[in-house]
Amino acid sequence: VTSPNFYELVGGEPTFRKLVDEFYAGVAEDPILRPLYPEEDLGPANERFRLFLMQYWGGPTTYSENRGHPRLRMRHAPFRIASAERDAWLRQMRRAVDAIALPPEQEATLWNYLEHAANFMVNAEDPN
Ligand code: HEM
Repeated sequence: VTSPNFYELVGGEPTFRKLVDEFYAGVAEDPILRPLYPEEDLGPANERFRLFLMQYWGGPTTYSENRGHPRLRMRHAPFRIASAERDAWLRQMRRAVDAIALPPEQEATLWNYLEHAANFMVNAEDPN
């Protein structure tokens, strides 16, 4: 028997679906984030992000079957991400993480990763 990976431990696809749905509900209303998303329909972006997170945590590899190597910094290069955008992203993500109500240890694992990844995606200086 193998121990469950993090994807399985937190409840599999339904958990990631809820996380990402909550996140995008926030993005849809966010005056800093919404203008960054090129498409009017946030559905395709929602699916890409959900499939990425599922794959990252040990779930199905559908993301890379559809999109290839994630190369996330490169894929974010078209969008100006300074600390204001990172903070707005983390604010919406914090709401979403609260909504899935994980046990504290799992929540800390997930949040740590998201904070590091958000810092990694910063690609612009704040305006003076
Ligand atoms: C795509 C913004 C951080 C994962 C995108 C897109 C935008 C965006 C505008 C394009 C939407 C689309 O059409 O897919 C931001 C901003 C961030 C941020 C402002 C602030 C720090 C992150 C982080 C992750 C992430 C931390 C991972 C943990 C993704 C993924 C995609 C994406 C997987 C789709 C990539 C693809 O084309 O396959 N993001 N993002 N983003 N983002 Fe972010």
